[in-house]
This record gives sequence, C-alpha cells and structure tokens, in this order.
Amino acid sequence: MKKLLKFKLKIWRQENSEKIGKFKTYLVNNISPDSSFLEMLDLLNDKIIRNKKETPISFDHDCREGICGMCSLYINGRAHGPENLVTTCQLHMRSFSNDNIIYVEPWRAKSFPIIKDLIVDRTSFDRIIMSGGYISVNTFGKTIDGNIIPIAKNIAEKSFDAATCIGCGACVASCKNRSAMLFVSAKIAQLSFLPQGKIERRKRVINMVNKMDEEGFGTCTNTKVCEVECPKGISTKYISIMNNEYVNAFIF
Ligand code: SF4
Ligand code: FES
Repeated sequence: MKKLLKFKLKIWRQENSEKIGKFKTYLVNNISPDSSFLEMLDLLNDKIIRNKKETPISFDHDCREGICGMCSLYINGRAHGPENLVTTCQLHMRSFSNDNIIYVEPWRAKSFPIIKDLIVDRTSFDRIIMSGGYISVNTFGKTIDGNIIPIAKNIAEKSFDAATCIGCGACVASCKNRSAMLFVSAKIAQLSFLPQGKIERRKRVINMVNKMDEEGFGTCTNTKVCEVECPKGISTKYISIMNNEYVNAFIF
C-alpha cells in the first residue's frame, strides 16, 4: 500500500468581496497520493463540517475532468499548481512531498473579483463571449446544417487547437498585466479559421477586443507566462493572429 501523506495547508479565507481576507492554517493527514487536489479539499471540508466551528471552504469545480475550466486555484504561487498542462482537478497529491506546506489562493485579478474564499467571479469572460464569440445563425425557417460546408482537415485542426481553450482564466491570473489576450485570441482564432466564422470576423474582433478593454483586463507585453501556465497549451501565436485580425478589420 502506498504511504499516506500529510500536509499543512495555508488557505485564503474571505467572506465576500467587501471583507478583508487572510490565510488560515489547516492540517490534513491520511491523504492518498493518488487523490486529486479537489478530493483532498473535500476531505478537509468534511472535517470542517463535522467540527461545526466554521463554514466549509468555498472553491469552484464542476466536471473534475479538465474540460469545464471551473477549478480556478492558485497553488504555491502557480495557476493550477506545480504541474504543466493540468487543471487543478487533474492535479494529484503525489505532485507534493509529504509534510509540504501548500498555499492555496483564488485567482488575483481586478476583473475577477472574489465572491467567497477561493471563488472568483469570471462573468467578465462570459460578457466578452457575448460581445461576439459566436457565429450568428437564423434558426427560423430553412436552417442549413453546418456540416454540409466542406472544411479542409488542416483548417479544422487549426480551429480545433484554438477551441481547446476551456476559459479557466489561468492566463489572466498568471499574467503580471492581468491580460486576457490569450483567452480572447483563442476564441477569435477558433472562429475566424472557419468559413462560417469569416462572415462576422471584422465586427467580432473589434467588439471582443473593445469588451476585453472595457472589462479592465491589461495589455500583453509578451512575457509568455500565460502560455506556460495554460492547462491546454494554448499558444501565444493566437495573439498575433488576433492582432492581425484587428488591424485588418479597419483596413479591408
Ligand atoms: S487560454 Fe488557457 S489559461 Fe487562458 S482561459 Fe483558455 S485554457 Fe485557460
Ligand atoms: S473542474 Fe472542470 S476543469 Fe477542473
């Protein structure tokens, strides 16, 4: 049987966006190295609930399969923790040594205000998507099936690579400028490669970039930390593609 682990956790507790937060220390033991980071937090919450002395720790999660982008935690100073290309829900406790001190914080960005403890409000991302991150379809009458438009395999693959962005916000949280350009550029590129997406491409890039600025995200200064911390390996080449789309929207 694998050796069970124990950890000292320093977890950010904050009642709401108005209150001042602080780190609180918790000890956890009998943790399987194969349990996920979120399962470890579940066990801690179980203990907190049974003690009845404080409210359980609030943290975001949904799929726990690395696809929904909900599990937004800053762990020991890195978005999604110490491993590359994994979300927090896919991070296992074997990535930490026994007796480690682990700091757990929410995303820190003005455009992601704290709701409670480790949960932040990422609806600014939703508002950017609503400003143009879609393809308009008239569903009244004779709607054409999107699949009847032939798309070359290399184009479909390029679009799919950009579409692997799960909107987690790690790129924003790890950027010193709190820039959302990796996220926004992936969404713009995903649609602009496809024939269905080309029709609205000019309006889309202008609206989405304007909305991103309006939501208070910073600018990109090419440090590329977003690319390093992105759990889906989204490349900063999409930022160049977005910049080209933006300039072309005013020229052509
Ligand atoms: S670009 Fe990467 S880090 Fe940013 S939201 Fe998408 S998946 Fe998350
Ligand atoms: S909970 Fe869905 S990606 Fe982690």
